Amino acid sequence: YYLGIDVGTSGTKTLLIDESGKVLAESDATYPMEQPRPGWTQQDPEDWWKATVKTVKAVMRQSKVDKSEVKAIGLSGQMHGSVFLDANDEVIRPAILWNDQRTSEQCDAITSAAGSREKLIGMVANPALTGFQAPKILWLRDNEKRAFDRLAKVLLPKDEIRRRLIGDYVTEVSDASGTLLLDVKKREWSSQLLGKLDLDSDLLPRVVESEEVTGTLTTAAAKKLGLTTDCKVVGGAGDCAAGAIGNGIVKKGLLSTSIGTSGVMFVHSDEPSIDTAGRLHTFCHAVRGKWHMMGVNLTSGGSLQWWVENVLQGLAGVPAAKSYEAATREAAAAPAGSGSLLFLPYLNGERTPHADPQARGAFVGMNLTHDRGAMTRSVMEGITFALRDSLEIIESLGVPVRQVRASGGGSKNTLWRQMQADVFGKKITTLRVEQGAAYGVALLAAVGDGAYRSITTACSATIEVAAETKPDAKAKAAYNRLFPVYQDLYSNLKESMH
Ligand code: XUL
Repeated sequence: YYLGIDVGTSGTKTLLIDESGKVLAESDATYPMEQPRPGWTQQDPEDWWKATVKTVKAVMRQSKVDKSEVKAIGLSGQMHGSVFLDANDEVIRPAILWNDQRTSEQCDAITSAAGSREKLIGMVANPALTGFQAPKILWLRDNEKRAFDRLAKVLLPKDEIRRRLIGDYVTEVSDASGTLLLDVKKREWSSQLLGKLDLDSDLLPRVVESEEVTGTLTTAAAKKLGLTTDCKVVGGAGDCAAGAIGNGIVKKGLLSTSIGTSGVMFVHSDEPSIDTAGRLHTFCHAVRGKWHMMGVNLTSGGSLQWWVENVLQGLAGVPAAKSYEAATREAAAAPAGSGSLLFLPYLNGERTPHADPQARGAFVGMNLTHDRGAMTRSVMEGITFALRDSLEIIESLGVPVRQVRASGGGSKNTLWRQMQADVFGKKITTLRVEQGAAYGVALLAAVGDGAYRSITTACSATIEVAAETKPDAKAKAAYNRLFPVYQDLYSNLKESMH
């Protein structure tokens, strides 16, 4: 049996699978996110640990599996966050998270220390973005000098949980890619950038491949979790790569779209293809020796949530639980392209393709014929166009896309599945059972324990594709006409957003 633990932003999810990949039990525990100032987001690593202990105990209790039968654990987690530890492994200050925006100055400092944006992308494959880990370390040095003087190690969220499990400092390539300190091509820390930033490489943990065994549980951790000291902990993955594995995105030609609060376009790549313009992230994949590219929309499903909960609910008088269903039913009655009504989903700034924290949302092109259904449909179309932006960059870089697999909110709704097929002009597949990041790392644990030869074999054995949605020629043509108009809107409106 194998455990997958995903240390997310709103909570931790743990599940237990058997060797065939069947889920035997799962458990969630939530915790808060502090926002001490606008744009600042923090959490207490102790909350992640308590949630880990609670959910592991819960799945062991539910499944009644004997503790000696749990062979390995895989860890997944929110990416980019910083846990600052002193020489006694005490957490120095609350962890700063992936969606924190306090580090603009430090991003500029990193870019100039590297020589230029292009040179920085040459070293670590990505530009400096406020959410990444390296600018947070510099922020501590610039703003909390006494804390920085005590600093002995910086860990990513799931790797802090690993430290508490195995008593060692280790990360793996997929999550390490989001620090901005990894030479993504070579899959090792960039001594060149560390040198330019005057950061000691001792601050960072050792880096392994995602399926490698990083250690076994300490006596204290085994006792606390109700497991044994023979239980291994494998590298695991950042939540995007872990989720992609859970979706079977482990081979050339496969791409997943995931519509949650944020939207992610994730493509497997056999080569470290790099977007020299820095619009897409190029990170190591959790598949040994492979990479992925990823475009992230910050307010994807979050835009539909805003529209339904802040605008529609009061007007429609529909009970909350029914409101999404009712809204998408009305949207399905509107024509593809919503009568040329366009929506920009940049309600909280945007990462891909604009990297602009000040980008804002808009409806453009309203006329008297537009009704509530057309507006809901145009919100959904705007979210899907934002994903197509990433798809176009991916294809322009020569990364092949043969199959698009939908997950998250966009896979469960018939209208949205069809809309994705029509907007992308590609066949969309979905999984029979969608499990997500905790499942992906439970599979990595099975590989690390030797139950499968590789993660690719593990995915072929366990993941089943259920349905296919083909593009409709007329709708596809309508979207092809509208998409360039959508693409021009940001540059035309940018000045009024700033
Ligand atoms: C990925 C990212 C988010 C977090 C959320 O680049 O910032 O998806 O990993 O958990």
